[in-house]
Amino acid sequence: MATVSADNVVLVGFMGAGKSVCGRLLARRLGRCFVETDDMIVARDGRSIPEIFRHDGEDAFRRLEGDALAALRLKSGQVIATGGGLPCREGRMEALRELGTVVWLRGDLAQQLARARRTGARPMLDGRTPQELEALYRAREPFYAGAHLIVDTAGLGVDRVVARLLAALRDPHAARV
Ligand code: S3P
Repeated sequence: MATVSADNVVLVGFMGAGKSVCGRLLARRLGRCFVETDDMIVARDGRSIPEIFRHDGEDAFRRLEGDALAALRLKSGQVIATGGGLPCREGRMEALRELGTVVWLRGDLAQQLARARRTGARPMLDGRTPQELEALYRAREPFYAGAHLIVDTAGLGVDRVVARLLAALRDPHAARV
């Protein structure tokens, strides 16, 4: 495992991977603060994410993610949930890895999509066919795979995912749980 310079836990993964719900519970179990990059963007911009996409487009949103990433450098000891697309640009996973231990919550694509559709507005899902969403996921996998740790979540509830996360974080040799 590469050297980690800060002690945050950073969750990455596709929409519907459970980064928010598992991250919040993980933070509680660890007695740490929890922060989401999407919330940072909304708080700073004053608009919702669908509004930002609608008015300014995806590229503008990705720039705001870059700003949020820069602001994360001030944080330590936190659990950080990232937006599903944040790590998927040149240099971004490297920057995340400098913040602490990066964990990919890797799930089954169909389950993740179903969960993402149930829980809140997600502009990246709108107007995309199942084939296009699968292609988006496949294009993102190599970025997510740059995480320090991979936790497989398929078929697991929140409690079991968090138990796996805690075990993986405790085991310095864990590469995949
Ligand atoms: C996005 C995922 C969303 C949010 C935005 C774009 C993406 O976060 O950042 O809608 O490109 O995958 P979640 O992963 O929490 O859904």
